[in-house]
Amino acid sequence: MIKKFLDLGYQPLANKYLKSYKKLSIKKKELYRLTVGFDTKTKLVSLFNKIPDKIMFDGNYPYKSSMSKTMTDSFRKLSVKIKNRFNPKLFLEIGSNDGALIKNFNKNQVICVEPCSNLAKITKRKGYFTYNDYWDLNLSNKIKSKFNSVDVIYSANTLTHINDLNQVFKSISNLLTQDGILIIEDPSFLECIKKLSYDQFYNEHIYIFSALSVKKLINEFGLELFDIEKLDTHGGSLRYYIKRTNNNKIKIENTVSKQILTELKFGLDNFSTYLKFGNSVKKSKNDLLKLLKTIKKKNQKIIGYGATAKASTVLNYCNIENDMIDYFVDTTPDKKNRYMPGKNIKIKKYEKKLLNNVDYVYLGAWNFSKEIFKKEKKFIKKGGKFITHVPSPRII
Ligand code: TYD
Repeated sequence: MIKKFLDLGYQPLANKYLKSYKKLSIKKKELYRLTVGFDTKTKLVSLFNKIPDKIMFDGNYPYKSSMSKTMTDSFRKLSVKIKNRFNPKLFLEIGSNDGALIKNFNKNQVICVEPCSNLAKITKRKGYFTYNDYWDLNLSNKIKSKFNSVDVIYSANTLTHINDLNQVFKSISNLLTQDGILIIEDPSFLECIKKLSYDQFYNEHIYIFSALSVKKLINEFGLELFDIEKLDTHGGSLRYYIKRTNNNKIKIENTVSKQILTELKFGLDNFSTYLKFGNSVKKSKNDLLKLLKTIKKKNQKIIGYGATAKASTVLNYCNIENDMIDYFVDTTPDKKNRYMPGKNIKIKKYEKKLLNNVDYVYLGAWNFSKEIFKKEKKFIKKGGKFITHVPSPRII
């Protein structure tokens, strides 16, 4: 049974950055109610309203994995690890985006799967075998008829975006060799709780995994966890290493039981923990608004840094308008001169000078704060301050 624990109100689609500001109303189809529930049986956290994949992932998807040094470094390190540990003859990535990971592999070794045509074009152009398609059983069979099987399947921040998880894992199991390895990484719900990062919820994040829920989910498909790594990416993620249950050649590391035990200690199997999280989110909203209003009373200027999907959730849940945040800066070319979803707040192409005469910078990309602080030493030296809502609204 799925029990509701969080209501983030009516929200526009995240990652849809409009060219002109359009006042959205509840009556209009563009808004959906962002409510989140916990399945007491499967331990899976999911959205109640699921937007069809084809609406979310089209030919104009703006997010590019290569946009930050943090991510490209993380992918480079991972490619070395995969080669050393598993030495795959054939490697498949579900949600290959702009090729940030696969560019570290040989072209004849890789299959890319990417539903967004603007991104699939990039890896095709670079010479990587790319299927511009959604991950499902049809595609899995199509790949099987051409390549037979795949040794390592990898997917980062993608499987939680797909509605039908049963089909996802069936399609993976269909294609994996007997000794094959599946590696997935996604934001960790334990980190969400610790950081009170409710902005991990938006229409694309249909599920937020915990080790507890992944363990249960994959068991149904004859798969099991054999290792878990903690990552700093996306505000705290877990990388799950998965094998076939009947593959006894691979040892199960104690990282698996350790993570499960930690999650149980935090009460991730218990609905009351989720209710508590929901209540703390309401307080976080009030505290953030209080903080922004206090600053604006002093006529000081606040801008946003990183026009993230996460920030879209915060702005719309807290009803933050351009009388509080003047504009956002972002390095992504496709977000330039667009508007934050649902809000009359413009996104300007990042330039250092846009931080001149700014008193406070709200971190839309708080998950990259280290990289941003390094880049903005001059702003900090001049007395500029950052604002974040993670783990609680405050000035840094
Ligand atoms: P991310 O946190 O991955 O976002 P989402 O919530 O959308 O999944 O995206 C980071 C965004 O921040 C991306 O649009 C690029 C932007 N950004 C900058 O503008 N400057 C920077 O220095 C960094 C690190 C990111």
